[in-house]
Amino acid sequence: MSCHKKIVFSCAVVSVLLLSILVPIHGISTGAPAAACKDMTPEHGELPQTTTSPFKTEIPVGAYVLMDDSVKIELRSTTSDTFKGFLVMAFDSEDASTPIGTFKQPVNELAQLMNCTSDGVLNAATHTTSAEKTLVNLEWQPPKYYMGTAVFRTTYVKDKKTYWIKTESITVSFVMEIPSSAPRSNSVWAGLMAVSLLAFLMR
Ligand SMILES: *[C@@H]1O[C@H](CO)[C@@H](O)[C@H](O)[C@H]1NC(C)=O
Repeated sequence: MSCHKKIVFSCAVVSVLLLSILVPIHGISTGAPAAACKDMTPEHGELPQTTTSPFKTEIPVGAYVLMDDSVKIELRSTTSDTFKGFLVMAFDSEDASTPIGTFKQPVNELAQLMNCTSDGVLNAATHTTSAEKTLVNLEWQPPKYYMGTAVFRTTYVKDKKTYWIKTESITVSFVMEIPSSAPRSNSVWAGLMAVSLLAFLMR
């Protein structure tokens, strides 16, 4: 009898402990609401910025990815500016109406996934808190056997009044074989440019 009471008591203690850990996380968690899925615009009542976004969605692997391979993407600041919020989705470059693919569960606490269509596919990622961020790493899985060209569109929120909507990444083509002429990444490309410039100057 007393043993049973003990179990109930420890269960209550554990529940309270769990709640005290979980509640603050959910309490301060914001993230884009489902209503933002359609036009990727925060409902702050301010107009989006028309200048070039200081935040970029980069694809380190480059413009070609093997069919069915996942793609790592980086949401990053290119200046000293930080962003508080974001919403990112991938689209076929020919169809801006419906997000495609699925994000993998983020490994860090900066991002959470959303279902931006009714089919329950985790096809969008957003912030968890309004903490100021300079880099968020995500990984995205294309649809099975997809062999099109995808582009990531990201809305970045610097603060309530300052945001850029649908900032576009480079396009990524899903192929059976990576073309041998394809630059593997921006740094390899920059390296090649530097070498050819050097060769030209030294003629
Ligand atoms: C997305 O939808 C699936 C299937 O309906 C559901 O199990 C899951 O909890 C949803 N996830 C989120 C983050 O809304």
